[in-house]
Amino acid sequence: MLILAIETSCDETGIAILRVNKEIKVIANLVASQIELHKPYGGIMPTVAKRAHQKKLPVLLKKINPDWHKIDALAVTIGPGLDPCLWQGINFAKKLAKKHSKKIVAVNHLEAHIYANFIDNPSLVLPLKKKNNSFPALGLIVSGGHTQLVLIKDLLNHQLLGETRDDAAGEAFDKVARLLGLSFPGGPIIEKKAAKIESRIKNYESRIKLPRPMINSQDFDFSFSGLKTAVLYKVEEQKNKQSQLPEKYIQQISYEFQQSVIDVLITKTQKAIKEFKSKTVLFGGGVMANKKLRKIFKQTLSIDYYIPPIKYCTDNAAMIAMAAFFHAKEKDFTPPSQLKSQPNLSLDSHSSARVKGEKK
Ligand code: KG4
Ligand code: ZN
Repeated sequence: MLILAIETSCDETGIAILRVNKEIKVIANLVASQIELHKPYGGIMPTVAKRAHQKKLPVLLKKINPDWHKIDALAVTIGPGLDPCLWQGINFAKKLAKKHSKKIVAVNHLEAHIYANFIDNPSLVLPLKKKNNSFPALGLIVSGGHTQLVLIKDLLNHQLLGETRDDAAGEAFDKVARLLGLSFPGGPIIEKKAAKIESRIKNYESRIKLPRPMINSQDFDFSFSGLKTAVLYKVEEQKNKQSQLPEKYIQQISYEFQQSVIDVLITKTQKAIKEFKSKTVLFGGGVMANKKLRKIFKQTLSIDYYIPPIKYCTDNAAMIAMAAFFHAKEKDFTPPSQLKSQPNLSLDSHSSARVKGEKK
């Protein structure tokens, strides 16, 4: 099966072609990043993002130049994400579907972040008829818009265990970076600052102490907005002493902030593995690009786990095609007239295949 997928949920415009038969092959995967456009604002501006998607979609499609006779289905992200951005992808997909007489799979962006792991690990899911030993699996999505723990009982059968009650982990990285006068997106630059102090001082232990919000709560929810506020208070305290934050201080607080996020993510993941007897963990989302986080997961997890390569961690259309494949196999297509943006779509609420499965 050959799938052409479109992703425009946030600030990356993506078009990809994926082939799945006995193996999984990414034929093309183009991403036009908007980071430079949003940098001056320190965050994503939806109207700027929408216009950029509108401009970039035809450019990327032309570059990919698909052989339409061979494409079996189109896939497009319908949510969650920014409403005006989602519509750009949806309307583009609708036009292509009409022009080339193709069916459309409506894709949940969060499902795709998790299923991104199958691209480079086809043996987890192929051959499809094989009794699968990887499930129940746990999914942890940590991105700029989401922080969610999901129980994956089987393919297309998910249950949301917990999520952030306020800011997503990536959003906290971005906001803290802004407080420290660092550039957008915050994650990579905070990681760099934290790594600097660690490379200078062996077994570095932070003198600045920040909270680990909800680390011991009974549920699987997260909260990162209080952590950001705690950074704000520390920064204000420091600025009362010196108006310009010293580089060393920026490195110290970056380290402690990053460590706090990592501690919370690891503790909750371990708790969920134990409680739900998960056999595998599937990670996803832009924050998983963080090398320290990856290293600590590697050191602490005793079950099989998968983290996509960075190009499939951050937003891309190859992961959208990967998720779409399983729906297309179940003939779970959406008529163009019913396709609409669902900015608040959750992982529980979208999967007609899942609903079918539960009725059995
Ligand atoms: O998944 P993604 O590309 O887009 C969303 O769906 O949100 O994630 C973007 C987020 C941003 O908040 C960014 O700061 C964060 O991922 N991020 C990182 C790193 N690289 C990107 N956070 C921590 N460490 C990183 N190395
Ligand atoms: Zn994403």
